Amino acid sequence: MVRHTSSTIEIPEVRAVPRHVAIIMDGNGRWASKRHMPRVAGHSEGLGAVRKVVEECRRQGVEFLTVFAFSSENWRRPPEEVGFLMKLFLKSLRGEVGRLAENGIQLRLIGDLSQFDQSIQEMIAYSEEKTAHCKDLTLTIAANYGGRWDILQATREMLRANPNIEADAVSEDLLQPYLSMAYAPEPDLFIRTGGEQRVSNFLLWQLAYTELYFTDTLWPDFTASDLQVAFDWFSQRERRFGRTSAQLASETLSASA
Ligand code: IPE
Ligand code: IPE
Ligand code: MG
Repeated sequence: MVRHTSSTIEIPEVRAVPRHVAIIMDGNGRWASKRHMPRVAGHSEGLGAVRKVVEECRRQGVEFLTVFAFSSENWRRPPEEVGFLMKLFLKSLRGEVGRLAENGIQLRLIGDLSQFDQSIQEMIAYSEEKTAHCKDLTLTIAANYGGRWDILQATREMLRANPNIEADAVSEDLLQPYLSMAYAPEPDLFIRTGGEQRVSNFLLWQLAYTELYFTDTLWPDFTASDLQVAFDWFSQRERRFGRTSAQLASETLSASA
């Protein structure tokens, strides 16, 4: 597996178009309530927005797109809503896997998948296998995912692999390969729709130096042009990674000399 730069150890390459975009797709329930529809209608509608965003990311050369579909805390919702989300998840995997493979999109799942029904776990394994050869874009779906769970499971796996390790020998480099997104660089751009300005236990470790973009647009209304607005905002950020503006300016000058 390719080892990716840790933003706290080495300064990552900065590009105008983000290489990795991570999205909290929020606002489905409110989208439906505004229309006097049941909340779950918003989840179905949200699927259309996912398709559009995946396609636009691929077109723009984004390499990794990670979307939060179900958090480890979403089990707290009413059982009917959780049940609906599970059915929708299975149905959309079944319906989309062929199209993903045709479009060169590799599908990956992160999260504690052991909590899902057997039928879902089997469909996940099948979908990952069917798209494993795809190279254009890696679409990661975070399902029963929590950032704290991720750090804890990585710690456990790291200790299993190094049972006699000294406390002082534990480092970022040692832990990183066990994190569930070890195959991807850290996200450059985080987008949350639906107006809330919080991370809700998404990629806690990986978001260390990610640019955070929040929009009031509800997820089912989010379009390719809304994504472009976020990308334009991103391209204007000065990504300093701890350095000063003056240092960045002098590096740009020496690079172009
Ligand atoms: C996000 O939309 C989708 C999931 C969490 C599954 P919500 O369902 O949270 O929508 P709001 O925030 O209630 O509007
Ligand atoms: C975050 O949205 C999780 C997903 C989008 C899957 P929530 O709607 O569950 O977040 P909170 O509870 O408002 O923070
Ligand atoms: Mg919400």
